[in-house]
Amino acid sequence: MATPQEPEPDWVRVRASGKINLALRVGGVHASGYHPLATVFQSVSLFDEVSVRWAEPNRFTVSVVGEQADQVPCDDRNLAVKAARLLAQHYGPARLGADIVIRKTIPVAGGMAGGSADAAGALLACSVLWDLDTAPDELRTFGAALGADVPFQLMGGTALGTGRGDELMPVLSRGSYHWVLALSEHELSTPAVFGRFDELNPDAPDELDLPTEVMNALVAGDAAALGAALVNDLAPAATELRPGLARILQAGAELGALGSIVSGAGPTCAFLAANEAAAVDLSVQLSSQGLCRAVRRVTGPVPGARLITA
Ligand code: C5P
Repeated sequence: MATPQEPEPDWVRVRASGKINLALRVGGVHASGYHPLATVFQSVSLFDEVSVRWAEPNRFTVSVVGEQADQVPCDDRNLAVKAARLLAQHYGPARLGADIVIRKTIPVAGGMAGGSADAAGALLACSVLWDLDTAPDELRTFGAALGADVPFQLMGGTALGTGRGDELMPVLSRGSYHWVLALSEHELSTPAVFGRFDELNPDAPDELDLPTEVMNALVAGDAAALGAALVNDLAPAATELRPGLARILQAGAELGALGSIVSGAGPTCAFLAANEAAAVDLSVQLSSQGLCRAVRRVTGPVPGARLITA
């Protein structure tokens, strides 16, 4: 692994948030290998920092520091490198190169789209570093070529995702929600969870209803209604592959969470609290049970990938 370097003034820095899915409805798998989704994303205040500086043409390096850094590949498999290469390929392969440093906080393979956040961060940071003047819509198109969650990670806030999850519409959301996240010791493979979903749901529909209950609760700013409406079709598959998740979800419910959900394909679990004080209580009690690697308190919605200005 390359020696991590601390970003300095000649670096462009971007802060990229993690996401949870407040609703995740999943249909039958397409020939492309992807599943149709009807999902409501919300960005939450757990951030990776992606910094980039000029490197010689066609040179792309990445180093990763922070939580679980040793679990992130530091070569061309890294999604931030793929993102930088994709932009360079389009705008000037003979001219553009970048050194990338990622400071990780979002769990790796945790169901919070951390890799997609890093790709979104790298797209935005490189477009600014290289002065490309790329419009937000164009960046989202590059993002969709990298992964289904990348367009949302550029946008942030609260949004309805359809198609593969990459066709986005902002969702009106009143107020700020207090979440407690239970982070898992181990990763969970997203393709493995979708694969188990296919086995459990051989008759999953092609057309999905929109998650109107979740959207109505968000418009009303009603945390109790949102807690009751949280839904994730991948939860049974994720819980089968990681039986410990069932105990964590149960613990959150017993400790008074308004709602409990597996985030995306897991294994991170998210608990909705009524307010900040309730979230503090819940996080302290959940930590003391020792069921997970770490507990984090976050709020949402927050913006997606954004420049950090001095
Ligand atoms: O889009 P991304 O590459 O991040 O997705 C990771 C994996 O998740 C895909 O390779 C696929 O197995 C699964 N996936 C899916 N349907 C979606 C989104 C992701 O099957 N709509």
